[in-house]
Formats: sequence, C-alpha cells, structure tokens
Amino acid sequence: MSDFVNEFWNWYVIVIVLASILACAVFLWSQSIHHRGKAETTDTTGHVWDEDLEEFNNPLPKWWSWLFYLTVVFALVYGILYPTFGRFQGLFAWSSAGEYKKEVETVDAQVKPLFDKYLKMDLQAVAADREAMEMGGRLFQTYCIQCHGTTGQGAMDKGFPNLTDKDWQWGGEPAQIVETITNGRMGMMPPYGGNPDAIGGEAGAREVANYVRSLSGLTHDSALAAKGKTKFETVCFACHGQDGKGMQAVGAPNLTDKVWLYGSSEAKIVEGITKGRVNQMPAWKEFLGEAKIHLLSAYVLNLSGGGEKK
Ligand code: HEC
Ligand code: HEC
Repeated sequence: MSDFVNEFWNWYVIVIVLASILACAVFLWSQSIHHRGKAETTDTTGHVWDEDLEEFNNPLPKWWSWLFYLTVVFALVYGILYPTFGRFQGLFAWSSAGEYKKEVETVDAQVKPLFDKYLKMDLQAVAADREAMEMGGRLFQTYCIQCHGTTGQGAMDKGFPNLTDKDWQWGGEPAQIVETITNGRMGMMPPYGGNPDAIGGEAGAREVANYVRSLSGLTHDSALAAKGKTKFETVCFACHGQDGKGMQAVGAPNLTDKVWLYGSSEAKIVEGITKGRVNQMPAWKEFLGEAKIHLLSAYVLNLSGGGEKK
C-alpha cells in the first residue's frame, strides 16, 4: 500500500526527517567544539534577571551532551526499525493497521466458539441464556439504540417501534425477527391527499380518521366515523384488513390496539392519510453477520417477553 502519489513526496519526507536528525547532531557537535580547550569562565552571556541573576557562558556538562547524542542515535535506530522514513516500512514491518487487525483476530478467535454455540441453539433457548443476553444487550446498545432507545421502547411519533411490547408490525415469530434484522424492512403507506377520488380529500380523511379512532375505543364523532367506515372498507382494508387488525406481511400496523407509531390524535391520523407514511429499518446482514444477528434477535425476543402477540 502506498500513501504517496509519487516518488517525489516519498523522498521529500525522507530527506526532511533525516536532515532534521542530523542537524541536531551537527548542532550539538558545533556547540561542544566552540568551547573546546577553554577553561571554565566567569564570562556572562549578558542576560540579567531579577536585578542580579546572571547567566555564565559555559559549555554543557559532558554527561548532558552525551545524553543528547544518545537521543540522536535512538532516533536513527528507531527509524530503521519502525516506519519513519517515507515509505520505508522499517525492519519490524510494524503498522497501526496491522496491529489493529491482529487485535481483532485475537478477540474474534476468543468469542467465535461462543457465537457458534449460540448460533446452533434455537432463539428461545438463547433468549433464556443470561450470558447470551448480556452479549446481545451490548450489541443492542452499540447498534440499535439510536432509533429504538436504550431500553428498546422506541420513539413514539417518529415511527420507531417499541420492541418491548407484544405488538409487532412485522411479526414476532423468531424467523420473522431474524428476517427483519437481517434484510431490513420498509413500511410504506401511500398518501391519499393528492387523490380526492380515493377518500374525498381532507374532509374524507377526517371521516376515516374518526373511524380509525373508533376501532381502538378512542373518543370520536360517530356520524363521521360511520361515513369513514365505508371508505376504510374499500380503500384501507387492502393492507390493514377488513377488521383493521393489520397485516404483518406488508408491515401495516394493527389499528385496533393502543400502540401507535405516529400518535393517535385525529390530526396525526389525518396527516398520515393525506401525506402517507414511509419508514425504514436498515438491513444488518452485511454489517453484523449471521451470528451477531442471531444474538440480537434473541435479545429482541427477550425484550418483548419472549412470545408472539397476545
Ligand atoms: C436508523 C434507525 C434504526 C436502527 C439503527 C435500527 N432500527 Fe429497527 N426499526 C427502525 C424502524 C424505522 C422500524 C420500523 C420499520 C417500518 O416502519 O416499517 C424498525 C423496526 C424494527 C423491528 C420490527 C418491529 C416490529 O414491530 O415488527 C425490529 C425487531 C427491529 N427494528 C430491531 C432492530 C435491531 C435489533 C436493531 C439493531 C441491530 C435496529 N432495529 C436498529 C429503525 C431502526
Ligand atoms: C398499501 C398498504 C396500505 C394502505 C392501502 C393503507 N395503509 Fe395505512 N399503513 C400502511 C403501512 C405499511 C403503515 C406503517 C408505515 C410505517 O412503517 O411507517 C401504515 C400506517 C398507518 C397508520 C399509522 C399507525 C400508527 O401506529 O401510528 C394509520 C393510522 C393508517 N396507516 C391508516 C390507514 C388508513 C386510514 C388507510 C386508508 C385510507 C390506510 N392506512 C391505507 C399500509 C397501508
């Protein structure tokens, strides 16, 4: 691997580094011959501090200058062993990237047997294993909390689902959870605002919204809801079902319960109907791999109490 665009910069660095080290040596040497043969003097440099503190113009003690020479030798030896001079790798061929790779390999080798063991167990069993859940929890804290929160409770109004309840947008069977995390999910509810024929514009949206609120036992205007029911059963049923209980295959939420991705107020529901709703759970297959996804899926199963919908 080369970090330099051309040979010139390689030599540019080598010359500067080598010249600086040698310049230090030459400077030290020139200072010592300057004083060679002269006895200790009482000449001063002419600097005076605090009224009467003066500086004598004497050479450095011998041991002190040797210490400086030693640093020059050290720099040269170091430069030969470790990367210092341009592209030259040093005799040890050390690199920070190589160091990091070695560390990662060591850790991977340590945890691989553990990951393999859990990968062979079914999700329910992993969810019941305390050590596995500690590992899963750490993964969750690293990769999932930005959207689902540190406790997994999601963020209502922003469409990030709560993972600690038994209400599933995409399904809570082990295979469904694994699929959600592996390949991601994209929920899409079409906008009806621009299509007055579909539900009858803003007024129609309010009627349907009142019907939706009635489904989950919230206060509503019954006259509006009655009109909305017909519209729901001709337009919305395709995804949310005739009974409004949703359809996991397309991620259409159950509208008859008390769990809301975007809020239950009439205004929020009207907004969703007119503008549509789109949200995406990222896919983790490439980034995390099967073994980590297995642990995370078990962790999610555990968060929700381990089972399918009530
Ligand atoms: C960038 C934000 C984001 C991150 C990070 C994220 N998720 Fe999600 N997740 C979402 C969204 C948004 C949804 C809902 C998708 C939809 O509306 O169709 C979701 C849905 C889910 C679901 C489906 C819930 C249900 O009710 O069916 C599960 C399970 C899940 N996420 C687990 C995870 C796990 C585990 C991680 C960490 C590896 C994670 N998520 C990381 C945004 C995120
Ligand atoms: C093509 C399928 C589809 C159709 C048709 C559809 N929806 Fe949806 N709906 C969805 C999906 C998918 C979501 C979840 C969006 C997301 O993941 O962010 C959703 C979300 C919602 C929500 C938000 C629920 C919550 O928990 O906050 C409401 C309310 C809703 N739909 C009502 C309706 C109504 C009313 C109609 C008819 C006018 C309708 N939908 C038609 C697929 C559909």
